[in-house]
Amino acid sequence: MTKSDDGKTVSYWEASEDLLEKDSLNQSIETDVCIIGAGISGLTTAYLLTKAGREVIVIDDGLIGGGTTSRTTAHLANAIDDRVYRIENWHGEEKAKLAVDAHAGAIDQIERIVQTEQIDCDFTRLDGYLIQATENSDDDLEKEFEAAQKVMDVERVERAPIKDFDTGECLKFPRQGQFHVLKYLSGLAKAIEQNGGRLFSNTRATDWKGEDAPEVKTADGQTIRAKSIVLATNYPIMSKMFAKLPAYRTFVIGAKIPKNSVEKCLIWDTADPYHYVRIQEEEIHDVLIVGGEDHRTGQENDGEARFAKLFQWTQERFPFADEILYKWSGQFLETHDGLAFIGRFSDSEPNVYLITGDSGMGMTHGTIGGMLVSDLILGGGNAWTEVFEPSRILTQSIAEAVPEIISSTAPYVDWITGGDVSSADEIKNGEGAIVSHGTTKIAAYRDENGKLYQRSAVCRHLGCIVRFNTLEKTWDCPCHGSRYGIDGQPINSPAFLPLEEIKDSSN
Ligand SMILES: Cc1cc2nc3c(=O)[nH]c(=O)nc-3n(C[C@H](O)[C@H](O)[C@H](O)COP(=O)(O)OP(=O)(O)OC[C@H]3O[C@@H](n4cnc5c(N)ncnc54)[C@H](O)[C@@H]3O)c2cc1C
Ligand code: FES
Repeated sequence: MTKSDDGKTVSYWEASEDLLEKDSLNQSIETDVCIIGAGISGLTTAYLLTKAGREVIVIDDGLIGGGTTSRTTAHLANAIDDRVYRIENWHGEEKAKLAVDAHAGAIDQIERIVQTEQIDCDFTRLDGYLIQATENSDDDLEKEFEAAQKVMDVERVERAPIKDFDTGECLKFPRQGQFHVLKYLSGLAKAIEQNGGRLFSNTRATDWKGEDAPEVKTADGQTIRAKSIVLATNYPIMSKMFAKLPAYRTFVIGAKIPKNSVEKCLIWDTADPYHYVRIQEEEIHDVLIVGGEDHRTGQENDGEARFAKLFQWTQERFPFADEILYKWSGQFLETHDGLAFIGRFSDSEPNVYLITGDSGMGMTHGTIGGMLVSDLILGGGNAWTEVFEPSRILTQSIAEAVPEIISSTAPYVDWITGGDVSSADEIKNGEGAIVSHGTTKIAAYRDENGKLYQRSAVCRHLGCIVRFNTLEKTWDCPCHGSRYGIDGQPINSPAFLPLEEIKDSSN
C-alpha cells in the first residue's frame, strides 16, 4: 500500500502497525506534567517521568505516534548526520564528545526500555557505514575519521560487508541500532499507562502559558493545569523559533529484496542531500529502505520524480531490488549547528520545556530530549544541558547561514507573480493550484469526485503564499515549512491557524 484513502503516502511503519487511538480529553484537569505531542519525544519524556512517580498527561491532536515519528526510517546512530568534524568546528571537541555520548546514551536508553518493558519491536544492534558518494570527491571521509576517532569508536575499513555492492573504503561505526518505531511507541504507551500516565488523542492544544501557573488550553475548551509543560510538538507550538529551524521534506522507498540478500547494517553516504539505507526483515522477503532527495519544504513539487531517482540509485547498487513496495515522504527540522534544541523554553517561562530541531536524528534527539527534560523536571542535573541549550548562540559562519536566510525569504516573490492557473475551471480532478484574482491568491484543490475546495493561499504564519504538494495533497509554505490540509487545517507549525475561508466558492 503506498497511498491512504485521503491521498497521502503511507510509511512502512504505518502499513505494518496500527496507530493508537485514545479518548480525547473532555474535561478540565490538573496534573504534575502536561506533555503536548505523542511522538517519540513526548512519549519518552512521559515514560521516564511516570516511572519516577510523576502524574503525567500527554495530549496529541492526532493519533498516538502519527506525527513525524510515523514517517521516519528509524536508524539509531551516534555517528552524527552533520558530521562530527562540523560539530567540533561549531561546538569544540569537548561538546562534540558530549553530543556523541548523548546519542549513544539514547540508543542505550531505548535498548534498556525495550528489555525492561519487553517491547517486541525488532530492536537490533548493528554497525553503521559512512560511504563515499559517487557524486562528489571531497575529503569528507578523511575529515570525519580524524575528528570522530578523538571522541568515539570508529574504524576505517576497505568496504562495507555488502556482497554485490563495492562501497570502496568507508568508515565503520560499531553499536548503532535500528527498530520498528511504531511497535516501540505502542510498547512505550502501554508502559506509560501501566505507570499511571494518561494519553489523549485527537486533543489539540490551542494555547499555553508558563510563568507561575502553567496551563494548556485545548480546542474543545478544556484547561489542563500543570506544574510543568513540555512542548514535544516537533516544532514548538506558539514559539518564534522558525528562523532557527528550517524545514525540509525527505523521501523514502521500501524496495523488495530476496531474504538475507543484504547484510544487516546501516549505510549513509557523503552526498548532499545524502542517501540513508537500512534493511527491514519480513517473513518471505526483506525490505531495503532507502531515503534521501531532500528539499526545503514547499520549494519543489516533484515527489514522484524523487522516488524514481531513489529507485535508480538503489538499483545501481542493489540490482536485485526489482519492485518498490512502499514510498513515503516526511518533514524534518534542521538547526544552525547540527544539534537539537532541548531544555527550558526561556528564563521567563521556567516551567515550560521544549524538544525540537531533530536534524534528521530525531529518534535519538527525541530520546535525549526525554532523558534531559525529565531530569530537569525531576530537579536533577544532566551533563548534556549546555550542549542542547535552546538559547545557545549562533556558531555558524555568515557564509554558512546566508543560504538558509535567502531560501526563507525568496518565496515572497510569489505575491507579485501570477497564479498557477487563471481560473479554478482549469484544475483537473485530484490536482491543486494557486488561482490569482487581482491581488487575491486562492489555494484551490479539486478532489477525485470533482468537488472544489478553496482557501486563501496566504500562510497564517507570516504571509507567504503556500504551494501545492501533489504527492501528499497538502498546501506547503515555502518560507518556514508550515503545512495545511486541503481543508486548510494546519498540519505542521509554525502556522497555528487554518488558511482563511474564501467567501465566494462558486465553481
Ligand atoms: C523520512 C524521515 C526519515 C527519518 N529518519 C530518521 C532516522 O533514521 N533516524 C533518526 O534518528 N531520525 C530520523 N528522522 C527524524 C525523526 O523521525 C523525527 O525527528 C522524530 O520522529 C520527531 O519526533 P517528535 O516526537 O519530536 O515529533 P512528532 O513525531 O512529530 O510528534 C509531535 C506530535 O505533536 C503533535 N502536535 C503538534 N501540534 C500539536 C498541538 N497543537 N496539540 C496537540 N498535539 C500536537 C503532532 O500531531 C505529533 O504527533 C527522519 C524523519 C523523516 C521525515
Ligand atoms: S511558515 Fe512562515 S510564512 Fe508560512
